[in-house]
Amino acid sequence: MKKVENTLREHRYQRSRIIQILQDIQVEFNYLPKEALEYVSQRLKMSLSKIYSIATFYAGFSLNPRGKHLCTVCMGTACHVRGAANVLDRIEERLGITSGVTTSDKLFTLETVNCLGACALAPIVVIDGQYHGQTTVDRVDKLLDKYYEKKDK
Ligand code: FES
Repeated sequence: MKKVENTLREHRYQRSRIIQILQDIQVEFNYLPKEALEYVSQRLKMSLSKIYSIATFYAGFSLNPRGKHLCTVCMGTACHVRGAANVLDRIEERLGITSGVTTSDKLFTLETVNCLGACALAPIVVIDGQYHGQTTVDRVDKLLDKYYEKKDK
């Protein structure tokens, strides 16, 4: 827990900085490990339930291990009408996981959202913040292959 201790020290052990502390821990581990939250709870003398309530309130925090890359498939109405369900099926098949899960090699976490506010580009897949509009089932493999190629290098 040395990294967590360093983070707490950087924030001068201030409970009022709990959100920033959790953000830093998430950057460090790519999610909020249970042990880290317990450690923060002890060191700040703050109840674990309060820390969990903050961690679950903000969508940016994850209590589960996340992959190196985040793949988000929009399942809003416009994307759905233009075939997002088929695209999602293909991505799930290719990664071997369902939405909300991380691959066992920790390369990808797959999520769905309801409308990214860019419906003209439907159906949309976002990988690490990069939008891929008008994605088709046929394009899925090419899209994901890039990340496997990088991993192999
Ligand atoms: S429904 Fe997908 S961007 Fe709006």
